[in-house]
Amino acid sequence: MEKWMGGDMHPSYRILMGPGPSNVHYRVYQAMSNPIIGYLDPQILTCMDEISEMLRGIFQTKNRVTLAISATGSAGMEASFVNFIEPGDRVVIGVNGFFADRMTQVASRCGAKVIRVEEEWGKKIEAEKMIQALREHPEAKICGVVHGETSTGVRQPLEEIGAYCQKGNTLLVLDAVTTLGGYDVKVDEWGVDVCYSSSQKCLSAPPGLSPITVSSKAMETLRSRKTKVESFYLDLILLEKYWGEERVYHHTAPVSMFYALREALRIVYEEGLEARFKRHEMLGDRLKMELEGFGFKLFAQEGYRLPMLTSVVLPDWIDDVKTRARLLNEYNIEVGGGLGGLKGKIWRVGLMGEACKIRNIHCLTGALKEILS
Ligand SMILES: Cc1ncc(COP(=O)(O)O)c(C=O)c1O
Repeated sequence: MEKWMGGDMHPSYRILMGPGPSNVHYRVYQAMSNPIIGYLDPQILTCMDEISEMLRGIFQTKNRVTLAISATGSAGMEASFVNFIEPGDRVVIGVNGFFADRMTQVASRCGAKVIRVEEEWGKKIEAEKMIQALREHPEAKICGVVHGETSTGVRQPLEEIGAYCQKGNTLLVLDAVTTLGGYDVKVDEWGVDVCYSSSQKCLSAPPGLSPITVSSKAMETLRSRKTKVESFYLDLILLEKYWGEERVYHHTAPVSMFYALREALRIVYEEGLEARFKRHEMLGDRLKMELEGFGFKLFAQEGYRLPMLTSVVLPDWIDDVKTRARLLNEYNIEVGGGLGGLKGKIWRVGLMGEACKIRNIHCLTGALKEILS
C-alpha cells in the first residue's frame, strides 16, 4: 500500500443555524476525550443509568425503557416501527412533511399497510382528521406523528390525538427528533407510547445517538408478537437487556458518544427545562422578526411555528444556493435550504441548543446585510 499523503484535517468552526446538527459545548468535546472503556465496565454502566435517568426527565416520563440507540435519529424511527409491526398490520400516519413521509416509507418496509392522513406542507394536521382515520381503522397498531416537522418548521399539537389513542390499543409513535430539549415533549401526559429523538439538535451532542422511550403498553405489544423482530440491532427487548438490570451484551457501546450525551444532558439540567424552552421561544421569535425585516415571509402556519426551526419563503430577488454558499464560505454560517418540493423555495434557519444564542442571530443578520446590500 502506498503512503497516504493527505494532511491533517482542520474543519472550520461553523455557526450551525441549519436544521441540525447544532453546535456542541466545549465540555461535551472534553467529555468525549475520556478514555475508552469496555461495554460492560461498571463505569460505563453507571454512565448509561445516568443517561436513562436524565432522559426520563427530558421526555417527561416514568417509562422504565428509556435509553439511547447507538445510531442517529433515523434509527429511532426504524426502531419505533420494526419492533411493533408484523406483516399486514395497519398504521395511520399524519403526513405533512418530508420526515412524516419517511415514516410511511419505514412503516411500509416493515410490512405495514399504511393509511396516510395528508395535510398541506406547512400546516399542522387537524386532530379530528387523525381521529377520524383512527375511528375508521380501530385495528391500527400504530398512529405516527412528527412533533416538529423539520422540513416545514411546523409544530404538531398532540393532546387530542394522544387522548384518543390512550382509549384503545393503538400505539402513539412520536418523532421528537427536532423538539426534544427545546420544547415541551410531555410523553406521559400526552399518552405517547414510543417517542424517539436525536442527540444532535436541541440536546447539542454530536450526531450518533437516538434517545428513545417506550411505554409499558408498547412493551406488552412487543412481547406479544407472533414473529421475531426483523432487526437484531434495533430489537428493544435485546436493548432493554443491555440497558436494564440484566446487562446482557448486545453491541459494542459507542462509549465516547455516551460520555458526550451524558455531558450534554447535564448541561440541559443545569439550565433547567423551563429556562431552556423560554430561551428557544424568545430567540425564535426574535429571529422570525429579523428575517421578516429582510423581506422573507414566514412559511409555517401561524400559532404552530417551531421556535428552534424557522422556515421562511425566499423573496424572488435572493438567490438560494449562491447566498447560502456565501454565508457558509465567507461567514462560516450554515443555513438549511428546502427539502423535496420546497427546494429552492424556502430556507430553514435553526436555533437549536448551543446554537440558540442572540449573538448568532446578530452574526446572521449582519452577514445578510452585507451580502444582500
Ligand atoms: C423530524 C426528523 N425526523 C427524523 C430525522 C432523521 O434523523 P437523523 O438525520 O439523525 O437520522 C430528522 C433529521 O433531520 C428529522 O428532522
